[in-house]
Amino acid sequence: MNSNIKQHYTNALLICININKERDFAELVEEGVELVNSAQYNLLHTLTANKASADPKYFVGSGKLEEIKSLCAGLNIKAVIINHNLTSTQERNLGKALNLDVIDRTGLILNIFASRVKSNEGILQVELAKQTFLYTRLVNRWTHLERQRGATGTVGGAGEKQIELDKRMIRDTIQSLKTRIDQAVKQRATQRKRRAKMDMFSISIVGYTNAGKSTLFNALTKSKVYVENRLFATLQTTSRSMYLSSEKEAVISDTVGFVRDLPHALVAAFRATLEETVHADLLLNVVDISQVLKERQIEDVKEVLNEIDAGAIPSIIVYNKIDLKSEELERIEYNNDGEPVAVYLSALNQLGLDVLKQAILEKMAYIKHTLTKQVLVY
Ligand code: GTP
Repeated sequence: MNSNIKQHYTNALLICININKERDFAELVEEGVELVNSAQYNLLHTLTANKASADPKYFVGSGKLEEIKSLCAGLNIKAVIINHNLTSTQERNLGKALNLDVIDRTGLILNIFASRVKSNEGILQVELAKQTFLYTRLVNRWTHLERQRGATGTVGGAGEKQIELDKRMIRDTIQSLKTRIDQAVKQRATQRKRRAKMDMFSISIVGYTNAGKSTLFNALTKSKVYVENRLFATLQTTSRSMYLSSEKEAVISDTVGFVRDLPHALVAAFRATLEETVHADLLLNVVDISQVLKERQIEDVKEVLNEIDAGAIPSIIVYNKIDLKSEELERIEYNNDGEPVAVYLSALNQLGLDVLKQAILEKMAYIKHTLTKQVLVY
């Protein structure tokens, strides 16, 4: 066998429908392509279309469905990926009509998470997210059957029983996963308490996927966390200590990459991982400065932070990858109060790391000063 043969990836077709003339449709398509590549499909074609509203039965209209059929046959497509969240009915009908695997956005992100996860806790969390997703799909199917029964007066029969059995099995799995995750959470809480007793300042690195969080974490702690140019390279929180100056130490954590409209099942499942973030004293929001969509990504990250109740934690925006922008130099940006708000650096080239440490020290002093003032006013 020739060992040089490239690994074979499943041939895929990506479908992006511009529902109701979305203003940032081009960005959505771009992100969809990145997600599909991240999931290691062999993307052969991206089909885009405009539609006033989604078709309740197939998501796409009947004309588009025929076009998809002939594209799939012509290109030997094995998976059809829809860059939107489908209802279980749409997913089922589309799968039947095409006789192919149909994967929606949540399913796609779950696949990526599942293929990238490495820590035991991460594996449990992805599994929990998957099972929760599956459960919701089954519950929807169940409701649909019940509605049918109500209309016709007939009993669903074997299919109905099977769904009930599947539901019970998934519920049991979910419960056992939750118990195991809870144990891990407790362990981490104990570690956190120990660090708090030592009065360790804690920093959490957050940011859009692929912004360079792991690279920055490695550069600051000189450790080796998996870094790869694919979305979601990091799927577990890793905490290490780092020196801000010769006598000041802090604990810093790397976190899972954020993405726009992170499915709710995933936010819930990763709540445990993101707990380090919720308890941090300072957040470093890493942004890829070379990204055209960077402002949007900053907002997307803020949204996820609000969702996990971390929106009020002081933060510094870290504009990373300045090596890709010849006009940018390593520096700190301050607001009118003299508070550091942003740092420009290149984690990969280890450019500006001392500037970042300086900004963190200044921010710590600023936070302390503000807290003291608040206590005095109180
Ligand atoms: P997720 O875990 O997917 O959320 O990614 P991440 O934010 O942890 O990004 P990671 O550190 O894995 O880096 C993503 C890609 O960006 C890798 O190919 C890095 O080598 C590259 N990268 C990181 N920092 C820099 C930088 O300063 N300059 C350049 N040019 N590339 C960088």
